[in-house]
Amino acid sequence: MFSTKMKDGFLWGGAVAAHQLEGAWNVDGKGISVADVMTAGNKDTPRKITDGVVDGENYPNHEAIDFYHHYPEDIKLMAEMGFKCFRTSIAWTRIFPNGDEAEPNEKGLEFYDKLFAECHKYGIEPVVTLQHFEMPWHLVKKYGGWKSRKVIDFYVKFAETCFQRYKDSVKYWMTFNEINNQSAFSNEFLTATDSGILFRDSENVEADMYQAAHYELVASALAVKLGHKINPEFKIGCMINYAQIYANTADPKDQLLATKVAQRRYWFSDVHVLGAYNKEVDKYLARKGYALDRTAEDYEVLKEGTVDYVGFSYYNTITVSAKKVDPDELSDISKAMVKNEYLETTAWNWEVDPIGLRNALNWLTDRYHCPLFIVENGIGAHDDVTDDHEIHDPYRIDFLRAHISEMEKAIELDGADVMGYTPWGCIDLVSAGTGEMSKRYGFIYVDKNDDGSGSLKRYKKDSFDWYKEVIESNGEKL
Ligand code: BG6
Repeated sequence: MFSTKMKDGFLWGGAVAAHQLEGAWNVDGKGISVADVMTAGNKDTPRKITDGVVDGENYPNHEAIDFYHHYPEDIKLMAEMGFKCFRTSIAWTRIFPNGDEAEPNEKGLEFYDKLFAECHKYGIEPVVTLQHFEMPWHLVKKYGGWKSRKVIDFYVKFAETCFQRYKDSVKYWMTFNEINNQSAFSNEFLTATDSGILFRDSENVEADMYQAAHYELVASALAVKLGHKINPEFKIGCMINYAQIYANTADPKDQLLATKVAQRRYWFSDVHVLGAYNKEVDKYLARKGYALDRTAEDYEVLKEGTVDYVGFSYYNTITVSAKKVDPDELSDISKAMVKNEYLETTAWNWEVDPIGLRNALNWLTDRYHCPLFIVENGIGAHDDVTDDHEIHDPYRIDFLRAHISEMEKAIELDGADVMGYTPWGCIDLVSAGTGEMSKRYGFIYVDKNDDGSGSLKRYKKDSFDWYKEVIESNGEKL
């Protein structure tokens, strides 16, 4: 047996992102973000990206759960669960409404002053992402998003403004959320949310994606360097979506494909953590004839601005088959995927694989030798509310228990250095992928429906008390 008590200072908490819960999309000078022009979808209908905000469309992020006005009540509930930290993002468009202004919007800065003060009132440490799927729409329209080198300067200015303003109230930062999602670049939602790349404005999405990601990585490295200068105590991490890549069979061709998919999916974190591109990606880009704008100075910056930790989201794993794609022909990684016959799926067809989390922690430890932070994990599910406003969600407890248990094994048996665990959507919020409210992750239920109706009242689910005990016992009582 081994101890399942986490080390002192382990950061138990929960995670959200500004655009998925704040609402108040046009309040106090906030500008329009990419998330503000995304309509509601569902499991079978993708969200549309409209050309600006169009009358008559349903934009679920506009109100979301109105955290902007409810945050004192919500942070109080998180404190009741015993949160040590709270991961959120700063909406770029609250600080720089268009992204390219000379001066920040004071009202936007004040909102986060108040939010972080509210967290500290309860001893909750904010963990802040700078770009979480919510870049200013104006930067998308005028500059083509991250395809333009100019956006590096706008981002660095945004980062510097936040670092200066919150240098005494925020210690943990992440530069870009799930920067590697766009490796599945045939999905416009992923290229748009990561980099502001719209298919209608792109002649070659793959080339644009590699260029945009390069600029983002340079911007991230510049921000890391700057942040450490502003406050040497800052811990600045990257954030990737991590899914262990499984070969579908023991056929060596499947295994080779699994290796290739991992290289194409995790070169982003190689640059963030190791300060250099992996060789395979460089060879691939040369083979494709993509002449990217990557300068000698950029390479120096990438080397100097490496991150302090790897933050990652973990939801599922990826299984690939060489029957679908020849390893030498791999380009969009989603084309190589097959269903894993060993795994059950959620109502939204996401495969459930707790052991995959232990695999993830082992793989990341071996590759990067640095602290890891599980900043998202969870199950999106339909919840039923009784007449007494009770929500019985044993499926959520089972899911989280199984994952935390694998995390504890990775720490105690395998030696992974894990800083903390913040399950996704600790309070119900708008799903990023589908725009639904009914895909719920929270310990706290919010009375809001997909059609926008609802009282916005908050109710504790059964998982609320369960997670409270997990934190109280520092992980011993699952
Ligand atoms: C991660 C994102 O990809 O997964 C979150 O960082 C997102 O923003 C979460 O909400 C869950 O995905 P979804 O589509 O169920 O909201």
